[in-house]
Amino acid sequence: MFAREGLEGVVAARTSICLIKGAEGALEYRGYSIHDLANHCGFEEVAYLLWYGALPSADELGDFSRLMRANRILPGRLSRALASILRELTPIDALCAAVSIMGADDPDAADNSPAANVRKAIRLTAKMPAIVGAHHRLARGLNPLAPDSRLNHAANFLYMVKGKRPRELEARALEAAMILEAEHGLNPSTFAARVAAGTLADLHSAVVAALATLKGPLHGGAAAEVIAMLHAVGDRSNAAGFVRKALAAHARVAGFGHRIYKGDDPRAIDLERWCRRLAGNREARRMLDCAGAIEREVRKRVAISPNVDFYAAPLWSMLGFRPAEFAPVFACARIAGWVAHVTEQHLDNRLIRPEEEYIGPLSRPFVPIEQR
Ligand code: ACO
Repeated sequence: MFAREGLEGVVAARTSICLIKGAEGALEYRGYSIHDLANHCGFEEVAYLLWYGALPSADELGDFSRLMRANRILPGRLSRALASILRELTPIDALCAAVSIMGADDPDAADNSPAANVRKAIRLTAKMPAIVGAHHRLARGLNPLAPDSRLNHAANFLYMVKGKRPRELEARALEAAMILEAEHGLNPSTFAARVAAGTLADLHSAVVAALATLKGPLHGGAAAEVIAMLHAVGDRSNAAGFVRKALAAHARVAGFGHRIYKGDDPRAIDLERWCRRLAGNREARRMLDCAGAIEREVRKRVAISPNVDFYAAPLWSMLGFRPAEFAPVFACARIAGWVAHVTEQHLDNRLIRPEEEYIGPLSRPFVPIEQR
């Protein structure tokens, strides 16, 4: 039987990682509401939850955080690659290539056991912000920075980009956003990671597949389109006209709509609040007012809501990331979910190989090249 286009409605895995209640607009990781996790946990704590299946005790979290901090420094070969060829690539392509290099150099490269996957995951997750930070600085003619081991994962991420310790509010905003984006079931990039893992490819290779899939404008690339739209609209007074024209032309409004959520996306609600807290100057408030006006106009006209990217985009922009870095920042969060899914796939694997319905020509007589 032919599945609906885009595999809509098809259940392609059994998982204990994440539950998306699309009709209710609710999301849980390992049974915990994302609102609780984003309000009360650190990113390391949530990564631990996703990878081990339970929240850590204080001692377990201390050990885990120490391991993460100890693994932030980029090896020489990767730093040299970043300073030469990778700096010329887009941030998402550079991250993809950097993960490949890390995979080739990883001491557990050939080991797909859960313990090896967690060891690899710690090295990878700890270093990804350092890669994004180094690329950001190299692109501006600045030297990459050594990590600051006194800072937690999210605060150190901002430090490695900006070169100064972030304010508490900025670090918490990034941390909450990273928790809200850490996992989301069989979204396209995670599905791609599971397909790669299903061939028994290693964790790094599965993450490369996920990164390549995240890049597209219908997935992780959407946030860059949101910010371009907010700049183009410019002011809330232009929002209604913009939305009217876009919908009349059957164009997609970036950052709206979702395959699973048919009402509100719970992540967008939290992110909008963080944006409001963070908006410290007139320009930021103007951008948010413009976003709010677009949201009201879209809701008035069609039954779709803002998705996670609609408010992640202004948040990352306020934190100092360039639009081309939005997808890599997203990846630095979603790596937690990718790892959990790859490990789950490796643990109970069957090759993922759907069938196709052939709709091309049949039994054509072969014509030699001289006669075509
Ligand atoms: N703007 C205007 N209309 C939309 C939008 C949108 N952003 N999204 C969906 N619709 C409309 C469609 O035109 C369609 O209407 P119709 O039934 O009258 O033809 C209906 O809503 C259903 O849309 P589909 O394309 O069938 O939804 P699908 O599940 O295939 O696509 C997707 C989901 C790709 C997210 C889509 O909503 C979209 O293109 N959004 C814009 C890009 C975006 O924000 N992507 C980020 C998603 S979240 C993430 O990956 C992090």
